[in-house]
Amino acid sequence: MIKELKNKEDIIALLSCSPEQDEELYQTAVDIRNKTIGNKVYLRGLIEISNTCLKNCLYCGIRKDNIDVNRYSLKEEEIYEAALFAYKRNFGSIVLQGGERNDKKYTLFIENVIREIKRITDNKLGITLSLGDQTEETYKRWLDAGAHRYLLRIESSNPELYAKIHPAGSMHSYTNRIKSLELLKKCGYQTGSGVMIGLPFQTVEDLADDLLFLKSMDIDMVGMGPYLEHENTPLYHYREQLKPLSERLRLGLHMIAVLRILMPDVNIASTTALQTIDPFGREKGLAAGANVIMPNISPAQNRKKYTLYQNKPFSEESDEITINKLSESIRSCGCEIAFGEWGDPVHFAKRNKG
Ligand code: 5AD
Ligand code: SF4
Repeated sequence: MIKELKNKEDIIALLSCSPEQDEELYQTAVDIRNKTIGNKVYLRGLIEISNTCLKNCLYCGIRKDNIDVNRYSLKEEEIYEAALFAYKRNFGSIVLQGGERNDKKYTLFIENVIREIKRITDNKLGITLSLGDQTEETYKRWLDAGAHRYLLRIESSNPELYAKIHPAGSMHSYTNRIKSLELLKKCGYQTGSGVMIGLPFQTVEDLADDLLFLKSMDIDMVGMGPYLEHENTPLYHYREQLKPLSERLRLGLHMIAVLRILMPDVNIASTTALQTIDPFGREKGLAAGANVIMPNISPAQNRKKYTLYQNKPFSEESDEITINKLSESIRSCGCEIAFGEWGDPVHFAKRNKG
């Protein structure tokens, strides 16, 4: 099996390998991870702060035009409670994720929340933001307030496919998205991006290009996962064209493994979408070369309302039990949870040394 990727054809060959070769592919990726950055897994507590969104992405269950969504925005105190849970459980860092909004009142609210989280956690809890496209000024203010990572998925690096899964117009512009990623890097954020895997109209060539895009953008962190249909979205119309869920899961794992071979020192998240298809999907992601897990620590009563796609898993157990079980299953994949560590991507440190 190819262990050094020289060109797009090599990537396509790995992404389309036969099922008998899967294990070898995943093991190659895990060996590279363990040799380059080790077998530590970093936890990011995911807090879904609001499902209100100005955008209308054609695949997303909380898009603006879906009137069936029960909209919520967490109160400051609810966000702090979740952040303190992460801090006390020694998670190292959290992710504040939400639908996109850019009004002044909102951007100020976020700025204050970031400062307050840093204050109540003795400056120890790392903060990642996943709050969509914003202005350079907003990115800077949030960075100054104490956030240090930003996730902004490109969703698909193929501009034509991007145009098929987003409404036309400047609000959902592909070039703006790229500009945002450039701005985030320029401001000094550890910058993350990613794509959806198994979209209608998407080819294996597109996926190979996605991986090459992440490399050419010199991205520090990657979150990518299978596309999962939602019945109240325009893209649902094309559901007949989709690969079976098992294939989307397998392709998701292949993408993680090939990315690890291509970019050995980046942080790669094993995403909730993998877990949606398979209860052990996230563990399988670790066993394919990922090194980050983002347990959902949003207040229990809001989790069902943050439905980007159908069948998103909701544990009925307490967070304590869920985290204990997760620690055990992470250990069973040959990894160790790095409690209390930020887990900055090694790639970021190298990128800054030049
Ligand atoms: N299936 C899979 N992922 C989705 N996202 C949004 N909708 C879906 C879906 N239907 C992902 C997007 C977005 C992230 C927050 O969730 O990639 O960037
Ligand atoms: Fe809004 Fe993000 Fe959903 Fe697009 S993917 S509609 S920006 S929450």
